[in-house]
Amino acid sequence: MENRQIAISQFGDPSVLVSQVGPIPQPQAGEVLVRVHFAGVNPIDVKTRAGLGWAASENKDKLPWVPGYDIAGEIVSVGEQSERFSVGDKVAGFVGFPLQGGGYSQYIAVPESELSQVPDSVTLEAAAALPLAGQTAVQALDKAGVKEGQRVLILAGAGGVGHIAIQVAVAAKAEVFTTCSEANLDYMATLGAHAVNYKFAPVSERVEEADVLIDLVGGDAALDALNCLKDGGTVVTVPTLSAEMICEKAKLLGFEATGMLVDPNPEQLDALLYMVSVGLVKTEIQQVYPLDQVADAHKQIETGHTRGKILLDMQC
Ligand SMILES: NC(=O)c1ccc[n+]([C@@H]2O[C@H](COP(=O)([O-])OP(=O)(O)OC[C@H]3O[C@@H](n4cnc5c(N)ncnc54)[C@H](OP(=O)(O)O)[C@@H]3O)[C@@H](O)[C@H]2O)c1
Repeated sequence: MENRQIAISQFGDPSVLVSQVGPIPQPQAGEVLVRVHFAGVNPIDVKTRAGLGWAASENKDKLPWVPGYDIAGEIVSVGEQSERFSVGDKVAGFVGFPLQGGGYSQYIAVPESELSQVPDSVTLEAAAALPLAGQTAVQALDKAGVKEGQRVLILAGAGGVGHIAIQVAVAAKAEVFTTCSEANLDYMATLGAHAVNYKFAPVSERVEEADVLIDLVGGDAALDALNCLKDGGTVVTVPTLSAEMICEKAKLLGFEATGMLVDPNPEQLDALLYMVSVGLVKTEIQQVYPLDQVADAHKQIETGHTRGKILLDMQC
């Protein structure tokens, strides 16, 4: 048996993603071996592959490097002192974040403490869509202290983070506004958000008196959206590149503002899996690519217009 992985051979365009074959790892004490069925593809994977951001600078001397942080699959063996899971259990996790990666692998040994059990009623595809994006959504809403009855504006509601953020905010009984292009207006409405087509007019002309801005776009779109907030409003800006600039501007205007870096938290993933199992959250998966089409998966993320999530099928 072999372990196929997708690695970044050098920084560059999607053609630098190569398939490599290695041994199947042995789970060490406290670890389990997971046969990965689906791996999530996130914008950070794409930026790192292009040589951008801190995950690239930290790993530049370790190429070829296997990216990927979202996995869902089944336990195939357990290491010593690993007691939480049995062979055959379905699990998902937000693994190796931020520096180790490794999710684009057919088999990966991970500490069992990093994994969540996937309920029977949740598919492994849905589970693979949740870890990084879902936890970013929950942590952004938590940081903003979103409460029942608040008016919450979420920029980029149709993306991987946004579609989950909308549903979690709606479940918390917030009134949710979001921005998207025309093709996603109906989809956003089905999730319970008031949707504004950002290509038609700036959101500041359409939304006012928001208590909270969850920015998933950054740059000029975020600066414009500051005008939607009421006095004393709260901003959480998620894209790291423009976070400092947006926080500075927001604070000058008298708002509470912060950037964030998502922090893996298995209990939070348990909660998200539960929400999916009871129908409070529905994951949207635009496309599942076979692992040998990983370059196409990265190209899709680079369009900036993915609806929901992109996954890799690691076993085909
Ligand atoms: N700091 C952290 O810890 C952290 C964690 C996760 C993600 N991030 C960052 O957060 C951002 C969002 O991540 P993601 O996974 O949700 O990305 P994504 O899935 O690639 O986002 C794609 C979505 O963005 C929407 N979009 C593009 N331009 C827009 C605009 N000007 N206004 C409104 N919507 C727009 C698109 O909707 P339309 O097709 O309708 O335009 C599309 O559905 C990325 O920059 C990512 O790197 C940071």
